[in-house]
Amino acid sequence: MILISPSILNADFLNLGSQIELINKSEADWIHLDIMDGVFVPNISFGFSIIKSIQSCSNKPLDVHLMIVNPEQYIERFAEAGAYLITVHYEACPHLHSTVQQIKNTGAKAGVALNPHTDVGLLKPILKDLDMVLIMTVNPGFGGQNFIESSYEKVKDLRTLSKELNPELLIQVDGGISTDNIKQLHDAGVDVFVAGTFVFKSENPINTINVLKNTV
Ligand code: DX5
Ligand code: ZN
Repeated sequence: MILISPSILNADFLNLGSQIELINKSEADWIHLDIMDGVFVPNISFGFSIIKSIQSCSNKPLDVHLMIVNPEQYIERFAEAGAYLITVHYEACPHLHSTVQQIKNTGAKAGVALNPHTDVGLLKPILKDLDMVLIMTVNPGFGGQNFIESSYEKVKDLRTLSKELNPELLIQVDGGISTDNIKQLHDAGVDVFVAGTFVFKSENPINTINVLKNTV
């Protein structure tokens, strides 16, 4: 079974409630929230108050992807705002083991994201402590970019590692996901698919989510 986590980054923010309603009515499993600080990535998105508002009208767990420096300063606040799962970037965490424990202490699930250039082997010492690894399949910062083809090999390498070190580990991909690559990614070992543009720029987002969910 695969999980679909639609990203609202490119949704219509003037009508955010109705966009969340679409996700509620779909077969989506989670909602993916992209938090950007303009420092770790060259874009700024939204923060706690928006997350709280989404939490109040969503019937799906909130999958919070932090593209921010010093995430350890804000973990508790993201948990309080309603995060089910909190993902921090490997590249933003000099004390990653400690930050992962901090996330778990809030009761949230813990994920670590890897930029396209970051090797999956770097997570070996910590893999058993993680609930999820997010392999970025574009450079983080913007929706609507092209999928990076070398991602398939990264997923396979991570799945090989996880079979040995953490068989329960979820592998998530984020960026340029569509019906063009979801099957091949699933075959490589992906469990959770984030999709932004493909869902929210389509004519019928509910139907698009359901198509993704039932493609593999
Ligand atoms: C990019 C974000 C993604 C983004 C994906 O930095 O992490 O979640 O919304 O958008 P698409 O699906 O359009 O590539
Ligand atoms: Zn994301």
